[in-house]
Amino acid sequence: MCGIVGYTGAESAAPVLLRALKRLEYRGYDSAGVATVYAGEVVVRKDAGRVDEINARLKLESMPGTVGIAHTRWATHGAPTAQNAHPHTDCSGRIAIVHNGVIENYLALKKELLDLDHSLASRTDSEVVAHLVEEYLRRGEQLEQAFRKALQRLEGSYAVALVSSLSPEKILAARREAPLIIGAGKGFNMVASDITALIEMTKEMVFLHDGDMAVLTGSGYRILRIDTGEVVERPVKVVELTVEMAEKQGYPHFMLKEIFEQPETLRNSLRLQIEYVDLLAELLDRGRTVFLIGAGTSYNACVAGSYLFSQIARLPTLPVIASEFIPNYGASIGVDTVILAVSQSGETADVLSALEYARMRACTILGITNTVGSTLTRVSRAYVLQNSGPEIGVAATKTFTSQVLVLAKIALRLARLRGKIAQYEIDEFNSWLERVPQTVAEALTMVNEPVRRLAERIAESRVVFILGRGVSYSTALEGRLKIMELSYIPCITYPAGESKHGPISVIEGGVPVIFVAPPDEYRKQNIGSIMEMKARGAYTVVVGDASDQELKQLADYYIEMPKIHPLLSPTTYTIPFQLLAYYTALAKGHDPDKPRNLAKSITVP
Ligand code: AGP
Repeated sequence: MCGIVGYTGAESAAPVLLRALKRLEYRGYDSAGVATVYAGEVVVRKDAGRVDEINARLKLESMPGTVGIAHTRWATHGAPTAQNAHPHTDCSGRIAIVHNGVIENYLALKKELLDLDHSLASRTDSEVVAHLVEEYLRRGEQLEQAFRKALQRLEGSYAVALVSSLSPEKILAARREAPLIIGAGKGFNMVASDITALIEMTKEMVFLHDGDMAVLTGSGYRILRIDTGEVVERPVKVVELTVEMAEKQGYPHFMLKEIFEQPETLRNSLRLQIEYVDLLAELLDRGRTVFLIGAGTSYNACVAGSYLFSQIARLPTLPVIASEFIPNYGASIGVDTVILAVSQSGETADVLSALEYARMRACTILGITNTVGSTLTRVSRAYVLQNSGPEIGVAATKTFTSQVLVLAKIALRLARLRGKIAQYEIDEFNSWLERVPQTVAEALTMVNEPVRRLAERIAESRVVFILGRGVSYSTALEGRLKIMELSYIPCITYPAGESKHGPISVIEGGVPVIFVAPPDEYRKQNIGSIMEMKARGAYTVVVGDASDQELKQLADYYIEMPKIHPLLSPTTYTIPFQLLAYYTALAKGHDPDKPRNLAKSITVP
């Protein structure tokens, strides 16, 4: 997720853009840049690093001109370098663009443009937009038409803004599946990824729709449809938010915002660079022993991944807590070992030290991460990016569901490669997988209120049990971690079949026992477990399918979930636990964004 902003008006654009960029840094902060139009030229200054550092180096705020665009980046394609930073220009230097989103067909477009003698300087997907516009100008189109035709060639998601010395007073902008808002001012107009960049300058916002294109000048703006060119009207909304609230898009905490943006982040996670998914699948298939290693939430995703790889691709894998990898398996690894490390930061010391040890023993190292340019990307032979966007809340939420979805996508590619399951099974699983973003959106609507009510009871508990069978054990592990790290209430989780082997002795009147019970083959055993807990006075909470009347009757408290393939259920059944942890933390007076004793990335062993 990146942040884009544009200004056209009477003032010097650069200082306005810089203030706006600072407000957008929570969306991405590995590189940034500004382009302004002045004296018939497009001036571009950009570099890797935070906005303040780049401004100190390149004097961004002194750039000339009253029209400009700017960008702060969370890299998805291409490492965070000056070359890959936005804005990107065309060959002639008359056009500059900034982009947020993922252009899925950029490789094909890049090849087409290179064959037409365009020279592209970066490794990003975004740069193709500037050269596509230039190509249509070469074919005789005017700037607006050239922009519109270029947009029609793009597949994937984009919020894009363009300036050009050909129309020095204009900003062209457009959006599809990435937010873009016009800030309508007196004597100026702006466009930005979200209201945080606009709220200091104006409260009059125009929310563009998917497929909208806009032409802005200092005195006004026009909105038209990309496909037909038809001019459309969009309502002006007056937004009464403080800047701080705007950064959280109206949510009281980053964590709640990140929980509710999961449908969007999961859509982006499905937009993986398929050539890297294929490479990972091939390398995983060659391993005699395959380990999935991670820490905390990422380890919980590894547990989910082990069920997916086994059941979908018939590939046995070992999920291992990163800090235990060397003590447990260090002596047994070698050249035929494959390690898939999962780490949203890509900097977790426990993971990196395990990988360093494995690298010295010629193991094949693969990665899944949310952070381009992280150490994990550098030590991996191949990696895929989960595309969750920056996660500001210390507790991992959207990055967990993205990791599970990416692991499911890799498992599916492996299944195709290994030919261990029938084509119809692959097709059926894939259709469930593609629907996960929508299913998560439904779950968020269904569970928010019931979970908020449950939190009041959980907040009074001295201990909470969370149990699951099969892949739901990973969901239970993640639910436990969320509740412990945010409410500080001790949580006990184990595979539900283990109760009678000891832990059930802890149960006494009123202890809440939460069962993760998607519609899978363990339904009967789950009913048995629920009854054995009820018999000992537990307060039984069941997270289960909305249509399961028997489970609903049995439970003391039932949380209804939408239909999902059981193996994909961690992406959706984790949502109630994320919200339960959040509301329980609030009930206990804790700050959900900054839980005690914890940091976002544990870079020390
Ligand atoms: C989870 O909510 C915590 N933030 C923590 O357990 C985290 O998942 C763990 O430190 C691993 O971080 P990583 O994914 O960046 O490697």
